[in-house]
This record gives sequence, structure tokens and C-alpha cells, in this order.
Amino acid sequence: MPPSPSSPAAAAVILAAGKGTRMHSATPKVLQRILEEPLLRYVYDALDGLCGDMMFTVVGHGAEALAEAFPARQSGFVLQAEQLGTGHALQCAWPAVQKAEAPYLLVVNGDTPLVRPDVLAELLAEAAAKDADLAFLTLTLEEPGAFGRVLRDKGEVTAIVEAKDFDPARYGPDPREINAGIYCLRRAAVEPLLPLLECANKSGEYYITDLIGLAVERKLTVLGLNMGNDPDLLGINTPAELSQAEEGMRGRIVSAHQKAGVLIRAARSVRIGPDVRIAPGAEITGPCELYGSTRLEQGSRVDSHCRLEDTAVGSGARLRSFCHAEKADIGPLCTVGPYARLRPGAILEEGAHIGNFVEMKKARLGKGAKAGHLSYLGDADIGAGANIGAGTITCNYDGKAKHQTTIGKEAFIGSNTALIAPVSVGDRAIVGAGSAISKNVPEDHLGIARAPQREIPRKR
Ligand code: UD1
Ligand code: CA
Repeated sequence: MPPSPSSPAAAAVILAAGKGTRMHSATPKVLQRILEEPLLRYVYDALDGLCGDMMFTVVGHGAEALAEAFPARQSGFVLQAEQLGTGHALQCAWPAVQKAEAPYLLVVNGDTPLVRPDVLAELLAEAAAKDADLAFLTLTLEEPGAFGRVLRDKGEVTAIVEAKDFDPARYGPDPREINAGIYCLRRAAVEPLLPLLECANKSGEYYITDLIGLAVERKLTVLGLNMGNDPDLLGINTPAELSQAEEGMRGRIVSAHQKAGVLIRAARSVRIGPDVRIAPGAEITGPCELYGSTRLEQGSRVDSHCRLEDTAVGSGARLRSFCHAEKADIGPLCTVGPYARLRPGAILEEGAHIGNFVEMKKARLGKGAKAGHLSYLGDADIGAGANIGAGTITCNYDGKAKHQTTIGKEAFIGSNTALIAPVSVGDRAIVGAGSAISKNVPEDHLGIARAPQREIPRKR
């Protein structure tokens, strides 16, 4: 039974100081993204309910970037200035861990983002039920690759041997049972073992996994809990493994939304971040990407090839294909796209419409206003019911500063108009097509600013 969050039976240590050499990236491995969120975040999600604020993260490589990514977690950060191995990482965390009074300590590799809270709770419950001093999760894999091998004698764990150090001549055939890198330690039992770790191995590192052999030698109770081949427990070391894990998380999130009543077509091509909220009855046609704090309200519909980030889509609104929106607020019953781009601060009020190849940035389109085709609306406030003709551009930038355009309600901006900001067009005013408007147009007036047409006979 999972312990209640108010009195957690376990503290947690997340090992996250490594570089992730096999990712070939300047980004620390635990900040690699899964559905646009750093992968460490998923480990926190899995542990939060079990360990509350008794959570410590060992940081080292890219520590500053980690602090920036998780400001609220910083108080639980422990620095491992030099990364001398996973055992050394635990040694670094120990003084902090001592402050947590919980009898058990969960230690989780930070590169195992798909681990689920129910699995951690099971490990904890099994450790407690069997009165284990040291319990850990194992997997049985067809291709055990670079994972640490679990050695057993008559079913009882005797040691973990790292792949690099695994010599069949010495240890026998490959057991194909591997260490998942998720441990439950009884604090009091493991404490005396920590100073005994040595680095006499192929990597010259202090391995946390050597604690198992040390515990067995001292006749402590050691438990290797086999979880079959659960792919959620695989650590991520390479780009290929990262994309596999992302695929796993993607499937998990999409099916949760489907179960809750969201209609997701071509579901295998829809990618939804963990913080996205979607009302039952909303509809998504894959392939689409929805990230960050995006919200879809009841009855809204997002067609294929849209990418939304931190964007609100009101009830009954429709996004046609190939729209790209970031920090935009799309009101109820709006219609957007195809091929629209909403940049931060784009606000569409109820029933507003933007069509193909319209870009908005820091711009409000009032209730029922329309910009149907080929426009740029930046730093603009557009009143209710206004009509923005094809090819209208707000010239908001003079090379030094940005300026505001204001368009009144029910104004009509003729096609191919340049609005040279700062400028305003009053309520119900009309602007003639092809105008370059650099002076304010008062309400209920026609503004026209283009060279008068002449007809000149052709010379032959
Ligand atoms: C580790 C285990 C291996 C297991 C595998 C499961 C060891 C020695 N080996 O191998 O038995 O099968 O995980 O995925 O533990 N880290 C630090 N400080 C360090 C080194 C690593 O904090 O000095 C962190 C890393 O950021 C990472 C985690 O510990 O999140 C695991 O390190 P990694 O180098 O990926 O270990 P593996 O070789 O995968
Ligand atoms: Ca790893």
C-alpha cells in the first residue's frame, strides 16, 4: 500500500549529476526533453506523491542549468562537484539524507523518466514486507546491452556486476537479468557500507551497485524484484533510447485523454505534453503537437499538423490544419487557419476568425473580427467586428522600436494596406485598398493614401 503523502515512509535521492556522454549533446542528460519537458521532471512526478519534500537531487554536470529548470526544487539539490560514479553520488547525498527521518530511502537514476509511482510504491511495500535492508528492481532483457548484470545463487541475489566488468569466464553465462537502477535502502543498514565502496573496476568509478555485494557478504537481506521486461523501467543513455522513452510517455498520456473522453483520431501521431488539459468532447486529428500549459475547452477541434504551446483554445473553437501557436489565447467559437501563426500575446476574442497565412503577435482581435488572408498583425488592438483585408500589414517596427496600431470596432481595412504605426483607425472607418496609412483615420471616415490612378495612352 502506498504510504500517505503527509507522512512518507521514504525519502528519495535522484542521481542526476552525470553528463550523459552517450547522448552527444551539450545539454545535461536529465534536461533532455520528453514532450518538451525535461526528463527529470517525470522522475519528480513519479516520486512526489511518495516522498513529498523529502527529495534530494544529486547534481553536478550542468548544475546551474538544472537549478534554472527547477527553481522550486533547488532546496533539495546536493552538489557532486566531481562525478566519480553513482556510489559516490549517494555518498555526497548522505549528509542531506540523514536529516530526513524516514527509515527507507528510494534511490532512482535520474535517467529513468518513465518509472511509475505504482512501481515505486510496490518496491517500497515489498521491501517493508520482506524486511529487506536493500531492495532493487530488475528486468530480464533479450538484449541486456550496457546494463549491470544481476547475479543470483539459487534464486538469491549475490551481486550486481557492471557490463564492462562482466566476464563470462568468471561469472558464467549472461543472466540477462539487469539492474534497473532503482533501489530501496534501509538507511540504518546501508550507512555502514557506504565508506566501503571502492573504485577498482574498469571505469575507475565508485558504483552504487557494489552495495549489493557488500550487503550480501554481511548477510543483510537483499531483494532483487524482477519486473519482467517492463520498458518503463529502462534507463536512457542514447538518443534512440530517448525517443523510445518519449514514445512510451506519449502513448501513456494520449490514452489517458482518450479514456477521459477526448476524441483523438490517428492517435499514434498525436503528441501531448504532461501539463496539457483537454476537456472531454474536444477533438484532435493527428499528427498534432500540444505542449506546455495548452488547454482545449469543450467542443473545440484541432485539425492535423497543428503545433500549440501554452495556448488556450476556447469552447467550440476550430483550428484548421497547419497552425502554429505559442502563448496565444483563442476564444470560444473562433476559427483559425489553415496555416495561421499565432505568436505570444495573440488574443482572439469570441468568434473571431483568422485565415491562411495570417500572423499575429501581441495583438488582440475583438469579438467577431476577421483577418482572412495573408496579413501581419503585430502590436495591434483590433475592435469587435472589424474586417482586415487580405495583405494588410501593421508596420510596427521602425528599425529601433515597436509601435502600436489601433483599429476601432467595425472598421474596414481594404486589401493590401500598410498601417504605419503608431497609428489608429477609428470605429466604423474605412481604409481604401492599397493605402499606406501613416496618419490617424477618424471614426466614420474613409482614409485613402495611394497615388491616384492615371490612364496614359501607350507609345508605339
Ligand atoms: C547504471 C547502473 C547499472 C544499471 C543502469 C540502469 C551503476 C554503476 N550502474 O548504469 O547497473 O543497469 O544504471 O539504468 O550505477 N550519476 C551521478 N553521478 C555520477 C555518475 C552518474 O549522479 O558520478 C547519475 C547519472 O546522471 C544518471 C545515473 O546516475 O542519471 C546513472 O548513471 P549512468 O552513468 O547512466 O549509469 P549506467 O551506466 O546507465
Ligand atoms: Ca543510465
